[in-house]
Amino acid sequence: VSTAPPDQSHDPADPRYLTAFLPDHWYVACRTGDLGSRPVRREILGQPLVLFRTPDGRPHAFLDRCAHRNVPLSGGRMVGDRLECPYHGWQYDPDGVCRHVPSLVGDPEGRARRVPAYATTEEQGYVWVFPSGDDPRGRRPFSITGPGAPGVTVVRRELVLGCSAFQALENFLDVPHTAFLHRGLFRGGRSRELEVVVRRTHLGVEAEYLGEPRPEGIAARILAPRGGELVHFDRFHLPAISEVEYRLGERTHLVTTSLLTPESTFVTRLHAVIAYQVPFPGWLVRPFLGPVAGRILDQDVKMLEQQRQAVERFGREQYVHTEVDVLGPHIWYLMRQAQRGHLDSSQTPLEKRLRIRA
Ligand code: FES
Ligand SMILES: [Fe+2]
Repeated sequence: VSTAPPDQSHDPADPRYLTAFLPDHWYVACRTGDLGSRPVRREILGQPLVLFRTPDGRPHAFLDRCAHRNVPLSGGRMVGDRLECPYHGWQYDPDGVCRHVPSLVGDPEGRARRVPAYATTEEQGYVWVFPSGDDPRGRRPFSITGPGAPGVTVVRRELVLGCSAFQALENFLDVPHTAFLHRGLFRGGRSRELEVVVRRTHLGVEAEYLGEPRPEGIAARILAPRGGELVHFDRFHLPAISEVEYRLGERTHLVTTSLLTPESTFVTRLHAVIAYQVPFPGWLVRPFLGPVAGRILDQDVKMLEQQRQAVERFGREQYVHTEVDVLGPHIWYLMRQAQRGHLDSSQTPLEKRLRIRA
């Protein structure tokens, strides 16, 4: 886990920046193993939150501010199933209601003596939070493809990125930079013309690349030494999830899911799940694929930092797109529409075909 630079958070509606905070969705707050008996602090969509577990093992999330004098509750401790503030020892039950005020003779409860609590769930190896404070009304967290399936090897990574969620998503789902920035590692060599089918619904957008040969870089050679034709999908899912899927023949399958949690405008926490299946034992690939994947990610992280620094230096984001920026404009469209509350299932799905060189 690297540390991102200090962030001066901007108003998410600020038109100078392409940031959309979409609170009516589930976000990963932390990995299951990172939440033990001590409270954990996280920031989600500009809000400081404290996560904690009650003795029954269930996770909970509050706004990280004691109702009494604003002290972060994440500095406190668990007393039974209550979270205790480190300053005067007020104790809050899992609904955020104050149940104990030391030295107070009368009733500890009172309408003002409570902290906002957020819907929380734990599944697929993560603790997820619904940061609007509303009831998720039956909505479930994103379902990650791969983990748990027979023969699938899973690698998880966590990283704090110094860029916005949109900037990261556009990078993760961008083909043209791979042959350039990651030359030799993933793509590279001769390019050829491919057909791309773009399909957009009100929940996300995908690009399917047709007629793509196996890339010539090291990572692709490790995964599929015998070559062949690729099945390749890049997908964006609201609110801030990317999924890149490669299939080569019957037996090689790789799905990389990037679950992004915007902490503030230009700080984004990434939980990546790399799930793959190869025609030989998965652990054999790990020592080779790990360093190559790490190097690719490192190049992206550095480039995204430079992009963000320039955006901050110039005080605004400005983009010129061509057709090969296949998904970026759709991602921004969907995020913006969702932020305005304009997205619903009555929207007509869009499908279009284009050609790029890759
Ligand atoms: S500030 Fe939390 S108990 Fe006083
Ligand atoms: Fe990249």
